[in-house]
This record gives sequence, structure tokens and C-alpha cells, in this order.
Amino acid sequence: MKEKLEKIATQAENPLTHKTLAEDKLFISVYEDANKKVIVELKNGGDVKWKAAVETQIQTKAREQGIQVEAFKIQWINPAHAQTTTQGPIARPQRSIPGVKYVVAIASGKGGVGKSTVSVNLASTLQQLGKKVGLMDADIYGPSIGKMLGISGRQQIEVKHDHMTPLEKYGLKVMSFSFLLDETQPVVWRGPMLGKAVQQFLYDMEWGELDYLIIDLPPGTGDTQLSLAQLVQTDGAVIVTTPQSVALLDAGRAVGMFEQVNIPILGVIENMSEFICSHCGKPSHIFSKGGGARLAASTESVLLGQVPLVEDCMAAAERGEIPVYKNKNKKIEPVVDAFEHIARNLISKLETA
Ligand SMILES: Nc1ncnc2c1ncn2[C@@H]1O[C@H](COP(=O)(O)OP(=O)(O)OP(=O)(O)O)[C@@H](O)[C@H]1O
Ligand SMILES: [Mg+2]
Repeated sequence: MKEKLEKIATQAENPLTHKTLAEDKLFISVYEDANKKVIVELKNGGDVKWKAAVETQIQTKAREQGIQVEAFKIQWINPAHAQTTTQGPIARPQRSIPGVKYVVAIASGKGGVGKSTVSVNLASTLQQLGKKVGLMDADIYGPSIGKMLGISGRQQIEVKHDHMTPLEKYGLKVMSFSFLLDETQPVVWRGPMLGKAVQQFLYDMEWGELDYLIIDLPPGTGDTQLSLAQLVQTDGAVIVTTPQSVALLDAGRAVGMFEQVNIPILGVIENMSEFICSHCGKPSHIFSKGGGARLAASTESVLLGQVPLVEDCMAAAERGEIPVYKNKNKKIEPVVDAFEHIARNLISKLETA
């Protein structure tokens, strides 16, 4: 029976990539536990629905081959705890950036949900809480960190001992592809070149001593995310979503992808959770309610916080100012409070782990 189950499990299809579990390295082993129960051990590569789809496939195939569903158990190993599997540790890049304590990637399933806004404001809040913070814009096709910090166009980057020096603004060390390119220059880099660029931003930069390096990723689950996973021991990804269900579906896919490449999910941030009217100050839930909490629950993750949609926050970013940096505008206060809550949650999650 073990051989049959091994064949079924290795050949089962990953609903996200349409490759087999063996190809995606999600199959671990089939073995008998102390109670003589056959265990099919698999790596978790997605959310609850993803796991259910894989389980159904394996159970259906097993039944077709005369194996009772009760005769075996599927055991899921979460990559974050994967060191305890029967097969020993699962490979993660051991390389870290000298002097940098925590590397946190800001990601989302779809575009325009507020990753760059979260990256900038979270980085600034951590800095205002006394941390040394770097901000890396890894969105090569649509870099926006420069604009949000009022650094437009190509910049003179100092190079010392073969290492580029990041720019400094608002107390943050910052690097973006936009500092190297003319605004009108089309970006045609693909796969391997992109990986090389990400590598240089991580290792050929003089980041100095940092408590946090926040990485603003492009939307989705593409080459940059994979390069990052292969190149550096990331402490985790924060998934940004808006509350409506279409966005949640994409965010769920992003969670699955990160788990698959062994980057732990630190939590979910629900952006634009409510709209605060700039005239009357009243909140309204224009994108429905509670989506971030549902995503966190369905992916066995946590909701780090909710950020309201505030017009002055967008206007500040357009002017190249960080909305939460030494804010004196009363209308932005709910955003400042939200990021303080999120930053403290993140600190306690990473620094007391
Ligand atoms: N909470 C908010 N309140 C007001 N405006 C916001 C808020 N969050 C984001 N925005 C605005 O929404 C727009 C999109 O946000 P942002 O650029 O951060 O998204 P993104 O996910 O990084 O997009 P992309 O996928 O293109 O990189 C920006 O103009 C930003 O200022
Ligand atoms: Mg962005």
C-alpha cells in the first residue's frame, strides 16, 4: 500500500502550478507511524482550500486503487516548522545580509492594493519607534518608492569598495531601480537579469547596521519573488490585501506561493479597510468588511492590522512626503495609529519569537 500511495501522492497535481507534487518538491514521504497507521507526509503549498483539493485528489485515486480512505492519513508540514520533518531540514538559503537583522518582504496577489504605501509607512513607523530601517524597492517594472519619498528620476549613486551606497531620506536608507534608470527608459529585464539585479540590491549595497530591511515587491507571484526566496533568508512576507473577495482570492494565491518557496507569512494587512470621509470624518466600508481577518484565518496566519483609506494620505504620497512621518495633520491620525499598531505587532512577532 505504501508504494501505491507514494505513486499517487507524487503524481497528484498542485492546483496552483498544475505540476505534480513531486515536481514542486511538496512530496516528503510515506511511512508507518508507531501505531502502524500509514502517513502520507506532504509540504503545505497553499491555503485551506488548496489542501482540501489535494487531499480529495489523493483520496479519490486511493479509493480507485482499492485503498480505504481510513487506512492512511495525510499529514501537512508547514514550511516554517519544516525542520522537524522525517526527512530533515528543508533547504532555505542560509545567506543573510551582513549587519541586517530582519528582512521583511511586502507582497500582494494583485496590483494597486497599497504595497508601496504600506512599505513606506511601515518603514517610517519602525524608524520612529527607534529602529534602524532600510527600504528596498524591488519593483523593477513599476518602481514607486522614489516618487513617494520625493526622489524623482535618476540619482547619483556613490560606490565605495564595489558597494553602492543607498540614499538617505526621512531617516531611512533607500534604494530603488528608479534611481538607476531614466524615467522614460523602458525596462526589459527578464528572469536571470532580474535575479542578478535583486542580488546586487541585497548584497552589493552598503546597507550598514539595520534592524529592518523592508522590501517592496511587485504585485503577484513572479520572478522577483522567486529570486528573493532563492537569494536571501527572508524572515517573512507580509501580505497586503483590500477587503473585497476578488482581492482576497489573489492574496490567498500569494500566500500559497510564499509557503511553497519556504518564506513564512508574518501576517496580513488589510488596506483601505474603511473610507474615512475628509469632510465629516465618518467611516464607511466601501469595499465590504472583514476580508483581511478572513484571509488570515483561512491561511492560518494573523491580521497585523487594518489601514483606513484617507484622501490626505494619498495626497501626501503624491507630494513625495511620508504620510506618517512626524505627522501633524489630524486627518491622517487614523493612518498613523494603524501603522503604529502594525509595527508593534510585527516587532513583537519577530523580536520575541
Ligand atoms: N490607505 C490609503 N489611503 C489613501 N490612499 C491610499 C491608501 N493606500 C494606498 N493608497 C493610494 O493608492 C494608490 C496605490 O497604492 P500603492 O502604489 O501603494 O499600491 P501598490 O500595491 O504598491 O501598487 P503596485 O501593485 O502598482 O505596485 C496610491 O496612489 C496610494 O497613494
Ligand atoms: Mg507598488
